Amino acid sequence: MAWSVEGRRVLVTGATSGIGEQTALELARRGARVVLVGRDAARGAATQARIATEAGAETDLLLADLAEMASVRRLAEQVRARYDRLDVLVNNAGLFLQRRQLTGEGLERTFATNHLSMFLLTGLLRDLLVAGAPARVVNVSSEAHRRGRIDLDDLQSERRYRGFAVYSASKLMNVLITNEFARRLDGTGVTANSLHPGFVRSNFGRNNGPVVGLAIAALGLVGRAITVEQGARTSVYAAADPSLEGVTGRYLDRERPVRPADAALDEDLARRLWDASEQLAPVAGS
Ligand SMILES: NC(=O)c1ccc[n+]([C@@H]2O[C@H](COP(=O)([O-])OP(=O)(O)OC[C@H]3O[C@@H](n4cnc5c(N)ncnc54)[C@H](OP(=O)(O)O)[C@@H]3O)[C@@H](O)[C@H]2O)c1
Repeated sequence: MAWSVEGRRVLVTGATSGIGEQTALELARRGARVVLVGRDAARGAATQARIATEAGAETDLLLADLAEMASVRRLAEQVRARYDRLDVLVNNAGLFLQRRQLTGEGLERTFATNHLSMFLLTGLLRDLLVAGAPARVVNVSSEAHRRGRIDLDDLQSERRYRGFAVYSASKLMNVLITNEFARRLDGTGVTANSLHPGFVRSNFGRNNGPVVGLAIAALGLVGRAITVEQGARTSVYAAADPSLEGVTGRYLDRERPVRPADAALDEDLARRLWDASEQLAPVAGS
């Protein structure tokens, strides 16, 4: 029988807004048992109520601040305490920051939220995914990865911070680390793919204040941004489409695999990024 998401345990990060919320809703409509990860209890409850109304489905809600690795570790502990297997992990949470900010742990916030949390959470839940095999890891990257340049000697952007450059680098990291997971998970029955959702009219970038918010809204009009319903399609496809059974290490755009930037296929860079990430957020340590 073809692989189906019905009855499968699916965890979605960034599930209280935009593409992640819509992805969670669509997967719940397909019968998945969805675990929402959010950072705000009220927004989480609102998403749960929406999915109950629109999909007729109960969901679980877990709270975590994915910018803080201690919080990512607590999240993984909660997941492990509640479930003995995980079928799909959708690492969707992400942000753009025009100005450099540090987390409480002293990490640059875009790097921590967009890349390091994805690396650590996937590593901490690896054995639950293996227990759920055939299982899937779905990482939401962006076409912005094509402009990304990674300086392994300055991962915290201490020397130079340009918001879009740092965001693009974090999205290149998403594709690289997905591909490295795909290689390391080979033979386990767990696949790992990354994707571009499209240019989507969501709350993305609004955390930077009204000027950047307006600029993004204007860009959305000029660039014909798509709706969150359309923007969630590639995530839903990656998480649920039976045709992707066994497909791993691919970058998806508009519901099909496409070739990412050459830098995203650099296996040596991926290994070195993995090692640097492991130094900062060891999967085995705390
Ligand atoms: N919109 C686009 O055009 C576009 C294009 C390419 C790629 N993407 C990617 O798509 C993904 C989803 O973005 P979106 O467009 O749906 O934007 P969004 O509406 O702003 O949603 C982002 C989600 O990430 C969550 N998040 C941010 N920082 C977090 C933290 N520290 N801890 C926990 N959760 C955190 C947010 O939580 P709250 O709900 O609490 O705010 C929100 O649910 C991102 O990875 C983004 O890079 C978006």
